[in-house]
Amino acid sequence: MISRFKDQVAVVFGAGRGIGEAIAFRLSNEGAKVVIIDILEIEVNLVKRKIIESGGDAEAHHLDISDEKIVNQCIDQIVKLNSKIDVLINSAGIVGPTNCEIENYELKDFLDVLNVNLVGAFNISKAVIPVMKKNNYGRILHISSIAGKEGNPGMIGYSSSKAALIGMVKSLGKELAQTNITVNGIAPALISSEMNRDTDPKMLEYMVEKIPMKRLGSVDEVASLCAWISSKEASFNTGTIFDISGGRATY
Ligand SMILES: NC(=O)c1ccc[n+]([C@@H]2O[C@H](COP(=O)([O-])OP(=O)(O)OC[C@H]3O[C@@H](n4cnc5c(N)ncnc54)[C@H](O)[C@@H]3O)[C@@H](O)[C@H]2O)c1
Repeated sequence: MISRFKDQVAVVFGAGRGIGEAIAFRLSNEGAKVVIIDILEIEVNLVKRKIIESGGDAEAHHLDISDEKIVNQCIDQIVKLNSKIDVLINSAGIVGPTNCEIENYELKDFLDVLNVNLVGAFNISKAVIPVMKKNNYGRILHISSIAGKEGNPGMIGYSSSKAALIGMVKSLGKELAQTNITVNGIAPALISSEMNRDTDPKMLEYMVEKIPMKRLGSVDEVASLCAWISSKEASFNTGTIFDISGGRATY
């Protein structure tokens, strides 16, 4: 296995399971010290244990990404312990209501989705960028969604939050373009994970039908792309949204 992240510290939000967990493992396998963060306490500790058992170095924290104060405290703690952050991955997210027309979509649900998927992304970017600036290096990667590029009907909160996240990536990418810190995003189509467990079956059918490969992606396929984007090799990409959609994305 190549060691693109030797001597690097990678902080992965939403690493308690799914895509974030797969990314944490991938970066650990390639030499990073990984900091696993999620709202799910048992899950982060389990992932930490599995990484350490497989020979990697890991620490775990649990918090709600939408709480700015707690995020700042956690990042301070990480920097005290590790003195730098080379890579920030944001895989935390919630899907909110699915197959739900706007007349039935509650404002509270809409705001809950925005708070995690968008405000959370703002909080962690704002907390980590000064740390990266001091070190004159950084790779930031947010997991958006094809729903943010194309809009999924019945998922107005999720689609809106992921579209706004794309705007954040493009804005920050340009803002930091001369700092040696890159900011990119990915837009996956349907990936097999816990997130889809409660998605309305009609919605899932609709989404698979729209994928030319007619299958779900795997978390390892996503982690593989994320590892390259987060590595030193990806040095001329910023403000980019990478598709990983089995052919669904058309622009
Ligand atoms: N699975 C898919 O089909 C798919 C497709 C496109 C984009 N995505 C995006 O990829 C990312 C990862 O999704 P996944 O499929 O691994 O789903 P997942 O539900 O398995 O993982 C998301 C993780 O985020 C954590 N999380 C949720 N709210 C949080 C909060 N407030 N604070 C901290 N952590 C929180 C969850 O506990 C969970 O561990 C999400 O942003 C999702 O929107 C997923």
